[in-house]
Amino acid sequence: MNKKSLAVFFGGMSSEHDISCLSAATVVDGLDRSKYDIVLVGITRTGCWLPVRDVSSIRDGSWRQSLASAVLLPDAGERSLLVTEENGTTRKIRVDVAFPVLHGRFGEDGTIQGLFELAKIPYVGCGVAASAVCMDKLYAKALVNELGIAQARHVAFTLKELRNGEAYAQAKVEAAFGYPVFVKPTDGGSSYGVSRVDRREDLFAALLEAASEGTRVMVEEAIVGRELECAVLSTPEGTKASGVGEIRAAAEFYDFEAKYENPASETDTQPVLPEGKEEEIRRDALKIFNAVGGYGMARVDFFLEKDTERVVFNEVNTIPGFTSISMYPMLWRAAGMPLGELLDRLVDSAFYR
Ligand SMILES: Nc1ncnc2c1ncn2[C@@H]1O[C@H](COP(=O)(O)OP(=O)(O)O)[C@@H](O)[C@H]1O
Ligand SMILES: [Mg+2]
Repeated sequence: MNKKSLAVFFGGMSSEHDISCLSAATVVDGLDRSKYDIVLVGITRTGCWLPVRDVSSIRDGSWRQSLASAVLLPDAGERSLLVTEENGTTRKIRVDVAFPVLHGRFGEDGTIQGLFELAKIPYVGCGVAASAVCMDKLYAKALVNELGIAQARHVAFTLKELRNGEAYAQAKVEAAFGYPVFVKPTDGGSSYGVSRVDRREDLFAALLEAASEGTRVMVEEAIVGRELECAVLSTPEGTKASGVGEIRAAAEFYDFEAKYENPASETDTQPVLPEGKEEEIRRDALKIFNAVGGYGMARVDFFLEKDTERVVFNEVNTIPGFTSISMYPMLWRAAGMPLGELLDRLVDSAFYR
């Protein structure tokens, strides 16, 4: 069998740039080199596309120093990266399949997927529309609402609306529900711009902080309960849901620090759940994946509400983390699928979309 030329895209112009680099290092190490010729394309925070030599330069960050460029041609007749070396010479590298390991805006939101569509290059993961829908929590909530699956009540603000000031924002939120609330950008990730607000005096500052991370902001009633996640994967035999994993944040909530920097935060792939809840969450994850038009992979996140035992939808991540502490690969490993096999399946799924 011929080796496939597989291009991994990482970094990107989002606040989750660093997390993407961690995810990419895990993915690249996990790919079977007897099957793939791996080409690495790093996208800087300012949006420059650079050819990257090896995974160690991803780990130490030195990839950003390259003076060459590697851009994906939108021309469907080419299906290639155009590499321009430091000395100005150019060459093309054929791309059989693209693996975007990008989190957040300009990577997980349908934009780069649109470029892959134009170039007619098969790619891993959700298509343009599903990516865009899941990147914006308000659109995802609207679709999930149709399914009758519970979710936190919310109110949304446009950035322009926030100019009406503090009293306006407080009144709008308080007309809907009481404190504590969660304030977040509608299209953020990795908990950037997310805060818990316990009293009205702190609401507006939280809204402004969220506004710096997103194109709209939302306020949700706080759900008291456990955080549970389910991984979804497209296979030739149909869409599969993994078991359910639990996040136990070593903080008031799973903020950025608790996610990536606090070793006391725990992930558990075999949590003990009340009777029937694992099945309910797996079923809901598949329903939600289908409702948003998902393809390839996604991680669907829920709460299990403490007092009511309601399963409450939180969000869908169409390019879930692949860092060493990330639930998506962990859940598949727990289901008997090691990383290399998971990556093979993801790459294969790009070809039978
Ligand atoms: N409505 C809510 N009730 C309780 N906790 C919440 C709520 N919304 C968010 N959180 C907490 O904040 C974290 C990040 O919020 P999330 O909506 O998942 O944003 P992100 O896309 O940045 O991961 C969650 O993992 C959870 O710990
Ligand atoms: Mg989340």
